[in-house]
Amino acid sequence: MSSLAVLHASELLTLAGTERPRTGQEMSNLAIIQDGGMLICDGRIEIVGPSDEIEKSRGEAEIVDVGGRVVLPGFVDAHTHLVFAGTRLDDFERRARGETYEQIAAAGGGIWSTVEKTRATSDSDLFEQAKKHASWFLKCGTTTVEAKSGYGLTVNDELKILRVIRRLNDETPLEFVPTFLGAHAVPRDISPNEYIDLVINEMLSRIASEKLAEFCDVFCEQGYFGIEQSKEILTAAKKLGLKLRIHADQLTNSGGAKLAAELKATTADHLEKTDERGIAAMKSARVQPVLLPGSVYALGSRCYPRAREMIEAGLAVVIATDFNPGSSPSPSMPMMLSLACTQMRMSPAEALTASTINAAYTLGRGDKIGSLEPGKLANFSIFDCEDYRELAYWFGFSQAHSVYVRGERVWSGGLRPSAKN
Ligand code: NIG
Ligand code: FE
Repeated sequence: MSSLAVLHASELLTLAGTERPRTGQEMSNLAIIQDGGMLICDGRIEIVGPSDEIEKSRGEAEIVDVGGRVVLPGFVDAHTHLVFAGTRLDDFERRARGETYEQIAAAGGGIWSTVEKTRATSDSDLFEQAKKHASWFLKCGTTTVEAKSGYGLTVNDELKILRVIRRLNDETPLEFVPTFLGAHAVPRDISPNEYIDLVINEMLSRIASEKLAEFCDVFCEQGYFGIEQSKEILTAAKKLGLKLRIHADQLTNSGGAKLAAELKATTADHLEKTDERGIAAMKSARVQPVLLPGSVYALGSRCYPRAREMIEAGLAVVIATDFNPGSSPSPSMPMMLSLACTQMRMSPAEALTASTINAAYTLGRGDKIGSLEPGKLANFSIFDCEDYRELAYWFGFSQAHSVYVRGERVWSGGLRPSAKN
């Protein structure tokens, strides 16, 4: 039995609370313990409390003195496109010259250009690139990552991506939750109807029978998959036992949030253009909104989703990175906290709830991760600051000091440099 006594966190953000996603005022309550600590046995949290109490019950446990830093649950990133080949530097430069996401896609950039590169990359090279991306997440304090396919768009290439995600889960300290996003774009060499047929009749059944994904997602947007097409794909996925997430109302208010409500999807993601009717529909169907401020920022837009209205309407808001090569090349949850507070008027506490416990519930893991409570996995991050609000306040560099998964230190690098002599 290996045990660990974590002691002397200036603030231990436990996020303890009711066993469901947090809404309204609950999002502001991080259940902080000053000078807090935890006793961890065999990868699970046994006791959480003030450091002096933990010290009394520590027995033989090895001490980790965090020296007055902030300790919080590992971030749960509930929306990423982590597996892809190459970059989109040309798109990036074109955008700086004023071209839009849609114009760049029409001119040969966009999702399709990443699809071509991803198809041409072998399984092992794709895995190596994805492993490098995964290490960036860890260094930012993230311990669980939802990862979508969607840059393959053939049966074999979508399976290839989902197998890379499975391998990442087996061979890195992070936990990955796989989502099938075959309906990310219609490939150039096949008609929309033929492609939807392929997604429903070949890809979905293979993926469900090989248990390669827990969720199915669709890019529901004009020029990609319309409401009826999205509904057809998601309904088929649901019948096969997959849970649903939807890229909804990102570029236009096309009814994606309402579709998510109608299909009782777990999440509707993006929602930059969602109006009050979409918000009301999500509320009545208990769909959790996943807001992705990194993609608004990187696309140079000012149209952030209406986070305040969503919180005030009682939705259990989530913040995620949307890590992908085109619209959000950032794995950093602290950067998303900064954007949430500066651009969407969320408080630091609301943003932290949105990126830990609320995110965990969208992945069906609210009972295991997302808060530091007895019985949960000892997945936590130590940040080199004393007040949790600093996580969202400082930006543009990593304050992560070290990261633990199931009670094991899996990354450490943010040590304060020792003073000269
Ligand atoms: O979530 N919107 C669709 N998918 C991604 C972008 C993918 C890409 O541009 O490669 C997103 O923003
Ligand atoms: Fe996305």
